[in-house]
Amino acid sequence: MESPAAVIVLAAGAGTRMKSRTPKVLHSIGGRSLLVHAVTAAEGTSPSELVVVLRHERERVAQHLTDHAPEVAIADQDEIPGTGRAVQCGLDEVTATSGTVLVTYGDVPLLDPQTLRRLVAGHEEAAAAVTVLTARVPDPTGYGRILRSADGTEVEGIVEHKDATEDQRGIDEINSGIYAFDLEVLRGALERLGTDNAQGEMYLTDVLSIARADGRPVRAMVTSDVMMVEGVNDRVQLAQLGAEMNRRILERHMRAGVTIVDPSTTWIDADVSIGQDATILPGVQLHGATDIGDEAVIGPDATLRDTEVGAGAEVMRSQTLLAMIGPGASVGPFSYLRAGTVLGKGGKIGGFVETKNAQIGEDAKVPHLSYVGDAEIGEGANIGAATIFANYDGVDKHRTTVGKQVRVGSDSVLVAPVTLGDGSATGAGTVVRKDVPPGALAVSAVSQRNVEGWTLRRRAGTAAEGAARAALGPDGDTEDAVSASPAAEDHKEREQR
Ligand code: UD1
Ligand code: CA
Repeated sequence: MESPAAVIVLAAGAGTRMKSRTPKVLHSIGGRSLLVHAVTAAEGTSPSELVVVLRHERERVAQHLTDHAPEVAIADQDEIPGTGRAVQCGLDEVTATSGTVLVTYGDVPLLDPQTLRRLVAGHEEAAAAVTVLTARVPDPTGYGRILRSADGTEVEGIVEHKDATEDQRGIDEINSGIYAFDLEVLRGALERLGTDNAQGEMYLTDVLSIARADGRPVRAMVTSDVMMVEGVNDRVQLAQLGAEMNRRILERHMRAGVTIVDPSTTWIDADVSIGQDATILPGVQLHGATDIGDEAVIGPDATLRDTEVGAGAEVMRSQTLLAMIGPGASVGPFSYLRAGTVLGKGGKIGGFVETKNAQIGEDAKVPHLSYVGDAEIGEGANIGAATIFANYDGVDKHRTTVGKQVRVGSDSVLVAPVTLGDGSATGAGTVVRKDVPPGALAVSAVSQRNVEGWTLRRRAGTAAEGAARAALGPDGDTEDAVSASPAAEDHKEREQR
């Protein structure tokens, strides 16, 4: 198939029924704006030129295009309203003088490149002047109706709902608003458009009857996929088309070898990729540029955004953003991986762990209840339960480096900037403020003393006292017996306050 000379995407309308401060075409489904969906479909036909026509909120929409589709040209529609005028303004940016021009809408997100390519191919094969994409719908209210010749092969024109007679309103074949035009016919016919209609607008649809009057062949290609040509006008349709897009994305992955246990609770954005034999359990959302490796298991109940998950890794009941999870690694349940988290091959981030800007080496483990921020953890290290990487001194953030095979005791606080050398260890409850040399054990907690009989005296009358007495027997009530150390003296004094 030949590629079209140009695609013109119409996006100048206001979209007032969205009742939104955000321009309609910038609302998103499937992780992309409606406009980027439309532009992506257009790009799929490999056109020589791609023009988007703007007017409403021009600067904001243009900026969005610069950010997400910098290769498109922008045309500005002037104050003259109507789809015909919009295409005319679009053509001002087209340099080609012959060939096929596709016209699509910026608010029709499910349109796919295959359908557009079929439209171009059918149009060129028939050497038509215009080929309009149509659909038969149960409720055609509001749409332009297709007027066909008596034998049904030729399209004689399109009549807008507001201009239609009662009889014409009974026609259930509607204009999708997507067309292939012969460029020369289009340019010529647009010059002759009037505004003598119910809306006082330049109707693009009038190009069909003009071409027909000139004796040029005008055809229709009927699609049975009605959703594919549906536009978004309000937020109810936004949700409906969002759900349909999701359904189509899930189906594509399932057909490619991904197990999705519960499609009704799974949401996957258009740009996500998933490897073969991966399993997506119920309650999963995969957003942005997330990439799931072969045989990985995601969920139940996990939300991943812009996250790379290696082959065979597992992510259960967790939230991740801009993270990389190595092959065979495991995450969750109930963990929060923030930007810059890199978990090595076979590593583990267990339950109730928050990480940020943390490179965690191969086979290293952060199994329980920890915060790991601005850190590097060497391979095979084990971070004890409830360890906190204190990265913030109230003014600046600092980094912590934990070497290979380090054993950090439970409830340690690593006060950054600090380095724990390879093979070092910390005792439980250690506050590490100074570097720990390789192979050393760091301890900072005061040594334990037992204040005998404390419960019996200080918690008299409680269930604890009863339990203690039962355990101690009749001779259990003794004086305080405190080991003699300065810390113990302090402690005793505090006890008495
Ligand atoms: C249009 C068609 C109608 C078709 C329907 C399909 C015309 C006259 N009518 O009607 O036959 O069934 O689409 O949805 O073409 N736009 C501009 N500039 C404008 C006006 C519109 O860029 O001056 C853009 C809008 O942003 C939108 C698209 O064109 O993306 C369609 O505009 P809309 O006002 O929704 O057209 P309809 O009246 O629904
Ligand atoms: Ca519309």
